[in-house]
Amino acid sequence: MSEIYVLALSVVFSLIVVKLCHWVYQWSNPKCKGKLPPGSMGFPIIGETFEFMTPFDISLVVSPYLKKRISRYGSKVFRTSLFGAKVIVSIDPDVNMEIAKASSQLRATESVTRIFGENNPFLQSKEIHKYVRNLTSRFVGPEGLKTRLIHDIDNLLRNDVENGARNGSFDVREATIKMVGELIAKKIMGETESEAVKELGLCWSAFRTSWFQFSYNIPGTTVYRLVKARRKAAKLLKALILKKIVSKEGLGDFLDIIFDEMEKDGAALDIDKAVNLIFVFFILSQETTPGVQGAVVKLVADHPSVMEELQREHEAIVQNRADKDTGVTWEEYKSMTFTHMVIKESLRFTSTQPTVHRILDQDVQIGDYTLPAGWLFFGIPQVHFDEEKYDDPLTFNPWRWQGKDIHSTVSREYMPFGAGGTHCVGSEFAKIIKTCMVSFENYFERLPVKLPNNRHVEKEKKKEVKEEEVENWGLRELIDGGDAAPGRILHRNNINIGSSRFVSYNSF
Ligand code: HEM
Repeated sequence: MSEIYVLALSVVFSLIVVKLCHWVYQWSNPKCKGKLPPGSMGFPIIGETFEFMTPFDISLVVSPYLKKRISRYGSKVFRTSLFGAKVIVSIDPDVNMEIAKASSQLRATESVTRIFGENNPFLQSKEIHKYVRNLTSRFVGPEGLKTRLIHDIDNLLRNDVENGARNGSFDVREATIKMVGELIAKKIMGETESEAVKELGLCWSAFRTSWFQFSYNIPGTTVYRLVKARRKAAKLLKALILKKIVSKEGLGDFLDIIFDEMEKDGAALDIDKAVNLIFVFFILSQETTPGVQGAVVKLVADHPSVMEELQREHEAIVQNRADKDTGVTWEEYKSMTFTHMVIKESLRFTSTQPTVHRILDQDVQIGDYTLPAGWLFFGIPQVHFDEEKYDDPLTFNPWRWQGKDIHSTVSREYMPFGAGGTHCVGSEFAKIIKTCMVSFENYFERLPVKLPNNRHVEKEKKKEVKEEEVENWGLRELIDGGDAAPGRILHRNNINIGSSRFVSYNSF
């Protein structure tokens, strides 16, 4: 009896081993009707995720993960597995543009889709996506910005920068997150009860983490926490919107547009979709802009000649104003040629994350290789560092854009905001925030920094830095002050640009 029992057990065990080996083999050798691009699927389930996600220093420019694979495979397109999904990674600008144009639906891994909400209008059918995209552009596109947003951005930033300067401490990334959050809340929903905004803020803060995760929604995992935070945020938003529908008071610009749409016959938008839309808006604007903003500040501060030229441009603009205290106008913004060159260069320099994210809806033939339907496609704008397209590409040099089209945000050689049907709707909005911030940086540099009597000062005394020296620090010193800088704007070691790139990458 026991022999039979042992035999049965060994058969079952052998079957499990065979099944497991088969599964591992299938994992490592995915099926494809044609020839897959070279690559490795890494360990089962984990794939190559950890190596892909490892933050890297800005001085390396190209991530070690990418560098290794490009030289190993000798191909600009390779296959891998990330976050449990099968992925094609491409650094070929022609392939990136082709896929961006051919497929118009923004997609990400299962976990990200879950975080955004499965019935999210941005992730639904192409028609709904197009419709919602047009709607959103009315709010954040240049027309909306011209008339509505630029003054608010300018005002909010002015307050934050001045307060930060007076308090002797100003963390650009944190300040931008706060500013963008406040701005969008006000612009979308109008005046809102502060308790609700506070609670919403708590929900958003849950998202300040890497949201590219394995897709398991089980208690204790990040995905579980994020899905919970999204549900809570959706509930709060819905309650706020319903209240506004009844009272019809103090609607924000965006809710105004959305309510108009909802009242139309056969409206494609209902309240749940509107809530999801607002949610995407918050997340995308909060996760992308602050990280890049931090990098812009650091790049400008590290290049004194750029800072001086910016100062010259902004001072000339202020000199020409009838009222020196008014904020930046749309006309002034458009006329800031050098500032636009700086922003364009900063976006080139910091775009090492994928900016084209798609799920391939059909097999795509690229030369000898087949990119299979159902796989994720991540297009990285590595072309930003191609010596044939950019002279000395590893140098931050805004002057390289002199005489070129400084306002365009997409071309085969330049894709910080993606391309095709999902090109970033917030690109102009993001550029305005950067312009206002850069102009305030210069303003800030001229402000005397008064150190408050707080723990930073105590720490400072221990390090024997003379307070009178610190009092006159400007932006550069605040950044370069390293550990000794109590009045820091952005600590050199505080911003790992590698990881902040991943922060923005994680948005999609
Ligand atoms: C420096 C800041 C920003 C960067 C680098 C950035 C980058 C991107 C990229 C690369 C995409 C395209 C993804 C793809 O095609 O696969 C995208 C899409 C998008 N972005 Fe941005 N973005 C920024 C700021 C913003 C802001 C401030 C907003 C909102 C106000 C925003 C809203 C959106 C939306 C709604 C989409 C989806 C468009 C669609 O599916 O049609 N972004 N962004």
